[in-house]
Amino acid sequence: MTVVMDGKALRDKLLEKLKLKLDKFEVKPTLVVVLVGDNPASKIYVNNKKKMADELGINSEIINYPADISEEILLDKINDLNNDDSVTAILVQLPLPKHINKFNVINAISPEKDVDGFTPKNLGFLFAGEEPYVYPCTPKGILLLLDEYHIDVEGKHVVIVGRSNIVGKPLSQMLLSKNATVTICHSHTKDLSDTTKTADILISAVGKKIIEENFIKQNCVVIDVGIFKDENGKTRGDVNFESVGPKTSFITPVPGGVGPMTIASLMLNTVELFEKTFAE
Ligand code: GUN
Repeated sequence: MTVVMDGKALRDKLLEKLKLKLDKFEVKPTLVVVLVGDNPASKIYVNNKKKMADELGINSEIINYPADISEEILLDKINDLNNDDSVTAILVQLPLPKHINKFNVINAISPEKDVDGFTPKNLGFLFAGEEPYVYPCTPKGILLLLDEYHIDVEGKHVVIVGRSNIVGKPLSQMLLSKNATVTICHSHTKDLSDTTKTADILISAVGKKIIEENFIKQNCVVIDVGIFKDENGKTRGDVNFESVGPKTSFITPVPGGVGPMTIASLMLNTVELFEKTFAE
């Protein structure tokens, strides 16, 4: 029997607990989200983040720059935010326009305010097997979801499709530290389905329709990180849910699986940074 993993329900449960904690804080955390340009998907994500912060009583602000802003102005702004004691968490929404060096921008964020866990210092901790200030949101959300459904990764073969800095790479390290055997596949992997078929847990973070029924073994756990609009404007993920679902033991839907967990993790991280670094 297949269990459809409910990311919305777990998000609500975690955030209800977080709200009770926040209600007791005299001073609240402040999250600043920097958005460059007018990518429609990024705008929706950023607005959802602000809405969720508002609901919880976290102070939040969106700073929206036009797409042609210079890297220098952006770096100056991040420097100001680093030095502003009232700001406790900084997020620069990705992707950035091509003329801006993403690494320079992320590297400019103070690691103590790096709510994504993307700065070289925080990723360095992660890759050294040490605790970063916070863990990247999507990988953290996936591990929370696996935990909620008592899916132990120890000794399991986890195959990740996608090697991004946002999901694939940090997730691989977090799984390794939980004693999973991890394989990362990507666009140059030959005969992808030969590898995915060996997975006990398959995590796909590609952003296009790629995982079909013949890509998995019976009773595999399938986590779908992809989210995009198909040719008919319908929101869908990397996995063909209808054909793959019945063969799985657990599967995440799109929407309603990993997406809500990413936003829950961002709220958890905002409070964790505040507690670790700023709360008296
Ligand atoms: N773009 C897509 N996912 C993310 C994320 O988790 N953090 C940031 N900053 N940008 C993103």
